[in-house]
Amino acid sequence: MFSCLVGLGLRGLASRTFRSPGKARKSSCPMDLGSLRKSYRGDEEAFEEKHLSSLDPIKQFSVWFEEALRCPSIGEVNAMCLATCTSDGRPSARMLLLKGFNQEGFRFFTNHESRKGRELDSNPFASIVFYWEPLNRQVRVEGSVERLPEKESEKYFHSRPKSSQIGAVVSRQSTVIADREYLRKKNAEFEEVYCEATVPKPAYWGGYILKPEVMEFWQGQTNRLHDRIVFRYLPSSSTPLGPMTHKGAGNWVYERLAP
Ligand SMILES: Cc1cc2nc3c(=O)[nH]c(=O)nc-3n(C[C@H](O)[C@H](O)[C@H](O)COP(=O)(O)O)c2cc1C
Repeated sequence: MFSCLVGLGLRGLASRTFRSPGKARKSSCPMDLGSLRKSYRGDEEAFEEKHLSSLDPIKQFSVWFEEALRCPSIGEVNAMCLATCTSDGRPSARMLLLKGFNQEGFRFFTNHESRKGRELDSNPFASIVFYWEPLNRQVRVEGSVERLPEKESEKYFHSRPKSSQIGAVVSRQSTVIADREYLRKKNAEFEEVYCEATVPKPAYWGGYILKPEVMEFWQGQTNRLHDRIVFRYLPSSSTPLGPMTHKGAGNWVYERLAP
């Protein structure tokens, strides 16, 4: 804990709040992170409407994604937070890897019987968020979610390393298990079973596509007057637009939001 806090430049804070691990738990003093603040960009580097590479948000995403790919300090450009919700409105979020995107939407793969899988079954809407910290950029995408056709899931499943395919067979994601030994044993068993054979894709494993209806591009500014340009997909292109709403590509419109 200490080395982690020192790494964040919080040496003084660490010694004040966490005298010993035992005491820290009992203390009611919250860890004050109020002074943790990073400089982003100056106003001359603001992200204005004229800087949009495209009025199609998928194309704009693709430009930012490419820029993130070229940034060596971003470890996993396709890492994103996926938020889902139960049918009675209780949200949950976790990191996932984006495995593809195009005009149809954003694709990811997981276990259909996992917590997120069950939530998507009962409430097929989700939100994904990317944060590319070295670029001070965040992208939020919201929309409806559908399962990908089995054929597409099969294709992707068999493109993965064999160890990952076996991992998907071994792990009934989000279920309670006794210990790590259980996973080790099961993994060894299936490695033997599929030593020479193709691993069949489990029926409970597959892909989803999130079809975007809202996409927000956020760029941080040091003075906290961050830039937020949000695209909304209108069901009809003849919907009248307000004075601060601009026509984007196709049925997309865009607006600037206060930070
Ligand atoms: C960077 C990162 C990438 C991940 N990618 C995936 C993924 O693509 N698919 C997946 O099922 N879990 C992935 N995980 C694990 C999930 O965060 C999560 O633990 C798992 O999917 C179970 O979530 P659930 O119980 O909410 O359904 C990833 C975790 C991290 C930290």
